[in-house]
Amino acid sequence: MIDLSRYQNIIGSEIAQINFPKAPQNLYAPLTYFLALGGKRMRPILALMGCELFDKDLNAAKHAALAVELFHNFSLIHDDIMDDAPLRRGKATVHSKWDQNIAILSGDVLMVKAYEHLATYDGQVLKSLLQLFNTTAKQVCEGQQWDMDYESATAVTIDQYIKMISYKTAVLLGCSLEMGAIIAGTNTTNRKALYEFGLNLGIAFQLQDDLLDVYADQNKFGKQVGGDILANKKTFLLLKAFEDADASTKTVLQNSLTNLKGSEKITAVKAIYAQLDIPAKTTEKMNEYYEIALQNLSEIKVPKNQKAPLFALSEFLMQREH
Ligand code: IPE
Ligand code: IPE
Ligand code: MG
Ligand code: MG
Ligand code: MG
Repeated sequence: MIDLSRYQNIIGSEIAQINFPKAPQNLYAPLTYFLALGGKRMRPILALMGCELFDKDLNAAKHAALAVELFHNFSLIHDDIMDDAPLRRGKATVHSKWDQNIAILSGDVLMVKAYEHLATYDGQVLKSLLQLFNTTAKQVCEGQQWDMDYESATAVTIDQYIKMISYKTAVLLGCSLEMGAIIAGTNTTNRKALYEFGLNLGIAFQLQDDLLDVYADQNKFGKQVGGDILANKKTFLLLKAFEDADASTKTVLQNSLTNLKGSEKITAVKAIYAQLDIPAKTTEKMNEYYEIALQNLSEIKVPKNQKAPLFALSEFLMQREH
């Protein structure tokens, strides 16, 4: 059995050691608050595992791991503004506890902190890390823009959705793993294969995030259940419902989105999801990508036992409740 807590503890203690200046308090206190809320720390763990996979001491990837986690947290602070989200990791979001301007600026400084950790590398490794990280960071912004554009768009296809989630979410998983591989000094073929694994795992991960947004247990989820429905997010669930509904159900669905609010809206949309078997169809789509990811990982040419941590993490992610 692989003990994931070993990796989590490494990241936890690194993050606990980050000390922000005391002033300006409204810039830094939100960051201390937000980082202490934890989270699964999946991306930094991927960076450590990506390094270890190629026989290199995972400590070499610590700074890259911190960089991706800080970048991720920056993106969440800003995402919660964009999504008008009240809750994150079971606590108030930064913009609702402080205000929107504070959330923008403290998010910005957190992104700079991510670059400080990257800057601890040098030479060709630094160059490769920066190239990958910058490409990824721009893609995350592009994905986020599509995510928002689609809230008010009428005809979004499933292909457009997959591209949107690949960018806003999945590329960062691929990037985390590949950064580990770059630090380990492995060849380009291995690097790219590992990236592909992360990309497909990330698509499965976001499909599951969409599913949990509707069906998670509020006490375990840590975010507002039903938030995607309230924000008219073009999730896989909604797009699939539009695709599979007959004409009259489509009208009811569209009217619910346009005219209803709050829990009434969530209940109405969920009733249509149930009628069209949307949860099972979403799980099926998620498993499709999960299977591709597992296949990608199997094909990487390192001894099977060295892949055990990545297989264990993948399984843990697919069984999560938050
Ligand atoms: C949330 O990511 C944002 C998405 C891409 C769905 P996580 O579910 O990894 O969030 P934390 O870091 O564990 O809170
Ligand atoms: C988040 O997607 C993607 C990024 C933060 C870049 P979501 O908006 O679905 O993430 P959650 O559900 O708020 O964590
Ligand atoms: Mg969000
Ligand atoms: Mg969002
Ligand atoms: Mg979500």
